Amino acid sequence: MFSADTLGTLLLSLATGFPDRAKNLVQTSDELTDDERGQLWAPLAASDDPAVQARGLGDVIRQGGSNDFFANECYRASFYLGGGVEQLRSDPLFGYFSSHRAGRVLDKWAHYFPIYSRHFAPYRGRPIRVLEIGIYRGGSLDMWRWYFGDQVTLVGIDIDDDARAAADPRHTVLIGDQTDADFLRRVAEEHGPFDIVIDDGGHEMQQQIVTAETLFPLVREGGILLVEDTHTSYWDSYQGGRDREGTFMEWAKKRMDDVNGFHQPAPIDPVWTGQLDAVHCYDSVVVFDKKTRFAPFAEQVGHAEFLGYPRSAAGMFSELLATRDAARNERDQLRTQLQNSDERDEEIRLLRAELAELRPSKEHTDSRLRQARAELDSTRESLRRLRRGTGSRWRGQG
Ligand SMILES: C[S@@+](CC[C@H](N)C(=O)[O-])C[C@H]1O[C@@H](n2cnc3c(N)ncnc32)[C@H](O)[C@@H]1O
Repeated sequence: MFSADTLGTLLLSLATGFPDRAKNLVQTSDELTDDERGQLWAPLAASDDPAVQARGLGDVIRQGGSNDFFANECYRASFYLGGGVEQLRSDPLFGYFSSHRAGRVLDKWAHYFPIYSRHFAPYRGRPIRVLEIGIYRGGSLDMWRWYFGDQVTLVGIDIDDDARAAADPRHTVLIGDQTDADFLRRVAEEHGPFDIVIDDGGHEMQQQIVTAETLFPLVREGGILLVEDTHTSYWDSYQGGRDREGTFMEWAKKRMDDVNGFHQPAPIDPVWTGQLDAVHCYDSVVVFDKKTRFAPFAEQVGHAEFLGYPRSAAGMFSELLATRDAARNERDQLRTQLQNSDERDEEIRLLRAELAELRPSKEHTDSRLRQARAELDSTRESLRRLRRGTGSRWRGQG
């Protein structure tokens, strides 16, 4: 197979518009066996598009299993040649990543950015708590702080002491092993509950499984656990392999069964059925959404016959609807009556208050009336006496 230098020259020839030079290299390089020459020639001859040619070279190298790094370089070249940047241009995290040419190391697969954006966007600018496991030199913590904003509380975990020394001192970095469940629980107790947990640690099976089993139940309601680099479940070097017992992906597949736990006879798992709302499985990334769930139910609306009910069932259905509507009407009438009677009570209360206010003035008026009557009576009496006196005088004169 090629040396790294030759592959570099070949990809550069494609990128700068000299495909013939690339072809010539494949035809004449004495680093290749005839077999390899034939396989690498095929994608160069099959297309004139350098992005397609580079991707084809990557496929040949990947399928030959000779060098993952070489395959990666071909795919990188294909991405940049084929407008990959254009497609990701609106993704803020990719924007940050691709313009991050200085500062702390940041190591990501390019296809992770749209996944981050899809799941993290609702949390931007909010006062959330984020835990990242595996921070290397702190480059990703810097990116999360930039993305989530100043209100975020960021905590990083790493097994390597140098990680803490290298990270920005504004981040809390704790040293520990992600397979140590007690350590993880302590972190969650002291610094959580976390809205988002990102596992970008050692990527070994037990590391991912212990972390998920320990931290998912402690994630805040409505939060998420995102596990990266789950492709290690298929890598020999990580004790992975398709359908191999004990891998993280086999564990994750069981969680998909748990999401459907309400439809199975087994007892409900309070965490993996009762609190796991969804499992999103992408290439190399699995996202677990946390939300308390109860047994779901089905509902049907629309015309019953249209839905395929037998006539008798349709009749019962209509009757039930009519009974429900009648009950609702009665309830509304009672509410109105209650409201009216409340209004009447209020009127009576106001009248009583008015009456209470009027009572002293009535008493005052009554007493004035009584006094006036007494005065009138006494005036009448005096008048009567006066008349009697005047009458006897007149009679004596006559
Ligand atoms: C892929 S790097 C993290 C990269 C970083 N998140 C970024 O995006 O730049 C993985 C990190 O996980 C740490 N790690 C490995 N095994 C671990 C374990 N058992 N517990 C905690 N961290 C571990 C390593 O020390 C390393 O710094």
